[in-house]
Amino acid sequence: MRVEAGGLPELGSGARDPAGARRQRRRRQQRRPAMPSAGAAAQPAPSPAVQGLFEACREVFGASAGAVPSPAGVERIKSVLDSISAADVSLTRNMSYFRRVNSNGIPKITYLHLYECEAFSIGIFCLPPRGVIPLHNHPNMTVFSKLLFGELRVKSYDWADASQDSTDAQLQGARLAKVKVDGTLNAPCATSVLYPEDGGNLHCFTAHTACAVLDVLGPPYDDGSGRHCQHYNVSSSAPSAGDSKPLPGDDGYAWLEECEPPDNFHLVGSTYMGPRIVDN
Ligand SMILES: [Fe+2]
Repeated sequence: MRVEAGGLPELGSGARDPAGARRQRRRRQQRRPAMPSAGAAAQPAPSPAVQGLFEACREVFGASAGAVPSPAGVERIKSVLDSISAADVSLTRNMSYFRRVNSNGIPKITYLHLYECEAFSIGIFCLPPRGVIPLHNHPNMTVFSKLLFGELRVKSYDWADASQDSTDAQLQGARLAKVKVDGTLNAPCATSVLYPEDGGNLHCFTAHTACAVLDVLGPPYDDGSGRHCQHYNVSSSAPSAGDSKPLPGDDGYAWLEECEPPDNFHLVGSTYMGPRIVDN
């Protein structure tokens, strides 16, 4: 999902839209690695794990002409992520990030920003138990997700007709999607990868326990470049009775319609305090 501001104070419910949060952060911190604020505790020195991830991303996405790196590049980033642990980014499941709830007891999701440039971004989503990141897309992006700890339910989709014009889909009111993943991840597990047209480009996460998800997005969300983070609902019916595309195979497909971020989705930013990234 879309990354949010590192080094910023909590953004409150106004940051439910990760795209908006990203725009805020981009204005304040373009191409700068996360740094401690004045008076904050010193951020740990670079570590081989985090620095190695950054350098792999820089080389792979820097050499990629489009949104999808070469197969060798994908394997390189996957391999680096597979070897990273929560300890490498100074996270433990007893941290306050994994206990945050709003006044109604709804879990808040915390985003820790590590790095962003035009080619890629790195960040961590911290989910308390029962925390939900609702269904959203990653247009023209490749996304790597490494579950650092916890038990996470994942449901993802790809568009059944990836060539369909999104404007037509909007006019239709809903668009047919095929279920890609409907299951539960238990850390330690392999890094997941999604692509612009397959791998589960639209997904939602539900935390069964406290979970930390390290995400690499290439390239990052950017409204100006057509990479807008859009949320979706699963529609209970096809767009119209006369639609020529019935649900093939029933439960393997769903009609998705665009929606605003749910009111109970609270995404807040906190300062990443793990080993810093050196961009030189
Ligand atoms: Fe996502």
